[in-house]
Amino acid sequence: MAAKLKLFLFTFCFLFALNKEANGALDAKTQVLINLANKHGPYIGLVVPSLSQLNPLLRHPSFISSGLTIDHGGKRFRFGIIESQPVILVFTGVGMINAAITTQLLLSLFHVEGVVHYGIAGNANPSLNIGDVTIPEYWSHSGLWSWQRFGDGPNNELPLEENGDYTRDIGYLRFAHYYTSDNETAGNVTHDNFLNYIWYQPEEVFPVNGIPEERQHAFWVPVDSHYYTISKELEGLQLDYCVNITTCLKEKPKVTRVLRGTSASIYLDNEAYRSFLYGKFTVSPVDMESASVALICYQQGVPFIVINGLSDLAGGGSAQSNESATFTTLAVTNSIKVVVAFINLLRVFPWALPYVEN
Ligand SMILES: *[C@@H]1O[C@H](CO)[C@@H](O)[C@H](O)[C@H]1NC(C)=O
Ligand SMILES: *[C@@H]1O[C@H](CO)[C@@H](O)[C@H](O)[C@H]1NC(C)=O
Ligand SMILES: *[C@@H]1O[C@H](CO)[C@@H](O)[C@H](O)[C@H]1NC(C)=O
Ligand SMILES: *[C@@H]1O[C@H](CO)[C@@H](O)[C@H](O)[C@H]1NC(C)=O
Repeated sequence: MAAKLKLFLFTFCFLFALNKEANGALDAKTQVLINLANKHGPYIGLVVPSLSQLNPLLRHPSFISSGLTIDHGGKRFRFGIIESQPVILVFTGVGMINAAITTQLLLSLFHVEGVVHYGIAGNANPSLNIGDVTIPEYWSHSGLWSWQRFGDGPNNELPLEENGDYTRDIGYLRFAHYYTSDNETAGNVTHDNFLNYIWYQPEEVFPVNGIPEERQHAFWVPVDSHYYTISKELEGLQLDYCVNITTCLKEKPKVTRVLRGTSASIYLDNEAYRSFLYGKFTVSPVDMESASVALICYQQGVPFIVINGLSDLAGGGSAQSNESATFTTLAVTNSIKVVVAFINLLRVFPWALPYVEN
């Protein structure tokens, strides 16, 4: 009897603590809503960097709101249906940390069978144009570096390299290659530079199907292979190319699958670094969130794909280079058009939806 009473008191206190929303833990009301939501899943999670990119989808005729929203951890999860698929929409805020937290919350709280991340990106690929929509096969986080001391170079081991913490396998950027004067251009080093070399590093990852606390490394993270395969169907899609009757893109925009994209918590508006990234990694879209979503989905074993509207040239020059503000809304509109078409493909090719155990 006493034991039963203790158990009861314990349960009561536990529920009471839940109700007080202590320390960001789930309160009882939120837990009830989450359980309710999960009964209507599984969902496609749509993860978007900003409200200005989310709002046009909320207003899109293909989106039918279910009326349910769940707020947790400073995020708002909105529920509805697109092309007969139940969806959860959430915006992250700028940068890798926001994108990671939001994606992890989405996958931890809800029954999500796949993630579509969309938004705008800078374009590092000279053969693509503002307004094009890219779907890369691989993503990397290019903001994790070992910054080498002055005097050392490619033949010197990095600190902690021997432990397997850091590596010279992915490659470096040498600041001395970017000295400018009348006579010197990238590639000809006649002046050394105290900033020396930075070496790109893979992320330490802890996949859910691995041994807890046993790290693996990941630099190029592939998007889901089924998603990528069916996304080929999107390449013929007609995109908008006019903002209004007088302002149009010079080239008709296209949907194109590309090899790679890269992200870092860096707003890139620098031609030298843009061409370095393209030359070294053959990346097309460059943004501040996608690789973060990729790394979380990869570790959680959840299929994902990224659809980026190219809104600017990341510092590269062209007649349109200072027109990015003009075409940002067009890039958003076009990326949403492709997202909706992609979700429709999931309905047409349902076997592309592997069942994910939550
Ligand atoms: C550039 O080249 C000219 C002619 O070869 C030379 O006189 C001058 O010193 C060089 N300037 C620099 C900064 O190396
Ligand atoms: C480096 O200098 C050489 C000789 O002046 C020149 O031919 C070459 O084009 C330069 N390389 C680059 C990348 O500018
Ligand atoms: C079309 O859009 C451009 C760029 O936003 C703007 O400058 C121009 O005034 C607009 N023209 C019309 C007819 O609305
Ligand atoms: C940027 O815009 C200004 C004014 O609209 C124009 O004069 C200039 O040529 C543009 N520059 C580029 C690089 O397009």
